[in-house]
Amino acid sequence: MELLIKNAKIVDWSQSFIGDVYINKGVIWEIGKSLNNNCETIDAKGLTLLPSFIDLHVHFREPGFTNKEDIESGSLAAAKGGYTMVNLMANTKPVCSNMDTINYVLNRAKEVGIIDVHQVASITNNFDGRDISHLDNLHSSVKIISEDGNDVMDSKVMLNAMAKAKEKDKIVMCHCEEHLLSKVDTRLSENTMTWRNISLAKFTGCAVHIAHVSTKESMEYIIEAKKNGINVTCEVTPHHIALTNNNYRVNPPIREKEDVEFLIKAIEEGWVDAVSTDHAPHTAEDKKNGSPGISGIETAFAVCHTKLVKERGISLSKLSEIMSKNPAHIMDVKKGQIKIGYDADLVLVDTEKQYNICSDAFRSKGKNTPFEGKEVYGSVVRTLKAGKTIFNQI
Ligand code: DOR
Ligand code: ZN
Repeated sequence: MELLIKNAKIVDWSQSFIGDVYINKGVIWEIGKSLNNNCETIDAKGLTLLPSFIDLHVHFREPGFTNKEDIESGSLAAAKGGYTMVNLMANTKPVCSNMDTINYVLNRAKEVGIIDVHQVASITNNFDGRDISHLDNLHSSVKIISEDGNDVMDSKVMLNAMAKAKEKDKIVMCHCEEHLLSKVDTRLSENTMTWRNISLAKFTGCAVHIAHVSTKESMEYIIEAKKNGINVTCEVTPHHIALTNNNYRVNPPIREKEDVEFLIKAIEEGWVDAVSTDHAPHTAEDKKNGSPGISGIETAFAVCHTKLVKERGISLSKLSEIMSKNPAHIMDVKKGQIKIGYDADLVLVDTEKQYNICSDAFRSKGKNTPFEGKEVYGSVVRTLKAGKTIFNQI
């Protein structure tokens, strides 16, 4: 299959120019100006071509909670949001603690066949907080382990898990929350566990990825750790950089203006590795009953583009770095850059398109968003996976 995209503004972490991209056999074959290949051609004049986005933190809820989302509805939502790869969390039913459950998810994702899926394994068996013996039975294709919202309360268990992850060359993704402290103060709870998890990473030498950093102090600990050469990466979510003083239920909660300013400064200075959505769809009823989370994969680009690029003057190249290049690097895939030989996973966006977010239009089953009605700039026009269109607005 061949495809020529002409006259696009081509942007990735390292470049920005008007030109053409020729795709063949699912990869980026040629990049240049005035390319003339005799094949299907898209005239992308006025549009921007970016590497598609990769989301390191996603809940598709299958198996177990398919009334909230399933792999098909989630994949469709991801494609609409400009994503071609997601990293799924393990808080399914059953929990993703063994290869049977993980393979079920991977096979189902293949059958659906829209985007690439990586399934995380839990750190402790069935999130029991103690038993890590299942880690020895994970296939090498499982690159990341995480306890998600549970975190691992017992520091000795986490220490052993990190040592095992280091031995098996896996990344430990940490949702930093000390649950006993959450009832006292959610900042203290996040900060304490960020510090602990970084300390354990330093001790074990294990690669640690800190999920949804929301406080200034947590980001300060991460910056300090990076300066000291500790093997730590981190992500921020669109909602934690776009909202303040908002009590929409999500874990960690929406923070203060000072936190948001610090997170954005950290993005500008290059300390933030990735934007991840923590896409957490819920039914209207579950949400009413207090389930925390935001259905965010379809609004992430528009929210980040509006906040960071339009309002703060951060370059689109920088946004591409944290939405595509760095997540691809963490996942160890040949994606996230517009470069010859890389997967032709691309997204055409209209950066000037202004509209109001409307959850009725979500493909996700979860309509739970704090951004309902918000005016944003930037719409995903078309998403391509290995050169094949998986979403087309027109
Ligand atoms: O708000 C959240 N929702 N935070 C989490 O860590 C879990 C997630 C969910 O699974 O709903
Ligand atoms: Zn999560």
